[in-house]
Amino acid sequence: MQNLFGKIAKLVTVALIAAFGFGLAGGPAQADEASIKYRQSVMKALGGHMGALASLVKGQIDAKSHLPGHANAVAAIGAAAKDIFPKGSDAGAETAALPVIWEKPDEFAKAVTAFETASAQFAGVAGGGDMQVIAAAFGDLGKSCGGCHQTYRKKN
Ligand code: HEC
Repeated sequence: MQNLFGKIAKLVTVALIAAFGFGLAGGPAQADEASIKYRQSVMKALGGHMGALASLVKGQIDAKSHLPGHANAVAAIGAAAKDIFPKGSDAGAETAALPVIWEKPDEFAKAVTAFETASAQFAGVAGGGDMQVIAAAFGDLGKSCGGCHQTYRKKN
């Protein structure tokens, strides 16, 4: 019996050491992977909202009351966009983010600001009911997505 407990205790110790070892070794790389995954999830959410908005703005779906909800979600992401490109999140997982983001941070910041501004302007008019004004602001918002992707996202 004593012997068996001894063996179990040894196995548990080995397992614990292995678990902690992996945790420490994987620390920074996991953080970068998490940052990349998070950024991609946020971008996918943007894609979802923009797709829904396109259906509403084109009048394919008759639910104007949904416009502010999507617009506010995009604007909230616009205000947080500067946080989703932390240093080091260019590696650690598959990413389409180009190194120039971190090589030319001042240039990149302009693309982030353009998006933040366009998303706030769109949210400001989305509930106003004037479809011409809404469509124009939506067009500007879409351009701010493309403006960043063109220079800072890998083409596939
Ligand atoms: C300031 C730059 C910037 C802006 C603004 C921006 N994006 Fe992105 N987007 C990126 C980058 C960089 C990637 C690649 C992310 C990665 O792979 O790590 C990306 C990826 C994406 C993806 C692919 C996500 C995936 O991995 O499946 C979608 C969809 C997307 N963006 C939609 C949008 C939409 C819609 C907007 C505007 C409402 C927008 N983006 C605004 C930089 C931007």
